Amino acid sequence: MHFELTPEQVAVQARARAFAVEEVAPLAREADEKGKFPMQLVRRMGELGFLGGPIGAEYGGTGLDYLSCALVYEELGRADSSVRGFLAVHEGLVSLCIRDWGSESQKRRYLPRLASGEWIGCYCLTEPNAGSDAASIETTAREEEDCYILNGEKIWITNGNIADVALVFASRDRSARHKGICAFIIETSTPGFFREKVAGVELGHRASDHARVVFEECRVPKNALLGEPGDGFKVAMAALDHGRIGVAAGAVGVAQACLDACVAFARQRRQFGKRIGDFQMIQASIADMAADVEAARLLVYRAAWLKQQGLPSTRETSIAKLFATEIAVKAASDAVLIHGGRGYSNAYPVERYYRDIKGLQIYEGTSHIQRIVIARDVIGKE
Ligand code: CAA
Repeated sequence: MHFELTPEQVAVQARARAFAVEEVAPLAREADEKGKFPMQLVRRMGELGFLGGPIGAEYGGTGLDYLSCALVYEELGRADSSVRGFLAVHEGLVSLCIRDWGSESQKRRYLPRLASGEWIGCYCLTEPNAGSDAASIETTAREEEDCYILNGEKIWITNGNIADVALVFASRDRSARHKGICAFIIETSTPGFFREKVAGVELGHRASDHARVVFEECRVPKNALLGEPGDGFKVAMAALDHGRIGVAAGAVGVAQACLDACVAFARQRRQFGKRIGDFQMIQASIADMAADVEAARLLVYRAAWLKQQGLPSTRETSIAKLFATEIAVKAASDAVLIHGGRGYSNAYPVERYYRDIKGLQIYEGTSHIQRIVIARDVIGKE
């Protein structure tokens, strides 16, 4: 068992860290305040090879291993969850899904454009009445001789308003539940594809773009199908197996950022005549945070390693997502407390970490759903 990163992985990590520190972090507070995604970072991530991380060079990607990709997500998560979230959807849910399930012509058309950042991807699964229960989607795909016609509504679609291409899940037979679901690749300029910002102001990820998408008699050719008709639910779940590692790694990044902020603050802030880092209660919080970050990181790396070996990794991915997001929620909460009044203000980044991290615990499957996935695998099906 080797705990060391390879020289290539160390180089990717250093590249991602430099990008996160020098180019992402300086924009994060303003993007959060304005509620606007820093679009200039998309092409830049393309140039750096982050948008097409695990995509092969023949489709314009970088051919990174999954652990290297996790390192990228971790570093981005340390700086800004909105930017990391963009990547988890664009690459983890969309590009990898097309790579795994797409026809040769679909791969040639979409993967290079997604890897460069020329096009942006979004993943349209969630609906007003189908969140955790993804198999109950109500969007329909009516089959005609030469096409499918989609009708329905999706919500909470990250990148939805800025995307050029959408992975869309719709049912051709709702009575068949998950077996009736089909996956489609739909270009967002297709007539009948409408989108708008979701209503309300989100707690965190305020720089992320979240859309409500509506399909009204949206006609797509049969070759827009991804996989076979009825494969859609498996396509959706397999995509989430990719995306969830990105979320888990991002959560490790948030927890590490909380730890870094707390260590710096505990060394500099003085009360009762000494550094607050010399008080045992502060020490205990920071020690627990450090232990949690290390444990979560190892779970994420193991899930990525299993995936790289081509071994089953659904359970381990859910374990990593569950544990990493839960400890990061605690780390962010403790970080705000340790910073006192300062932690309650956006003058210090822990306030944003605290708001953002709640989203990681919810999207791409809530902690409840991760527990269901884990328990079903541990206990087994009858
Ligand atoms: N890979 C491949 N196939 C899978 C799979 C996986 N990881 N998980 C399940 N399947 C297959 C099963 O083997 C089964 O196949 P068969 O019919 O051939 O046996 C089929 O899918 C149905 O599986 P289940 O019976 O387990 O399905 P279920 O209805 O009980 O649901 C669930 C399982 C785990 C709860 C699932 O619904 C789930 O993950 N829900 C959460 C949805 C989710 O994460 N949504 C987030 C959307 S994306 C987002 O948040 C961010 C954004 O902006 C895009």
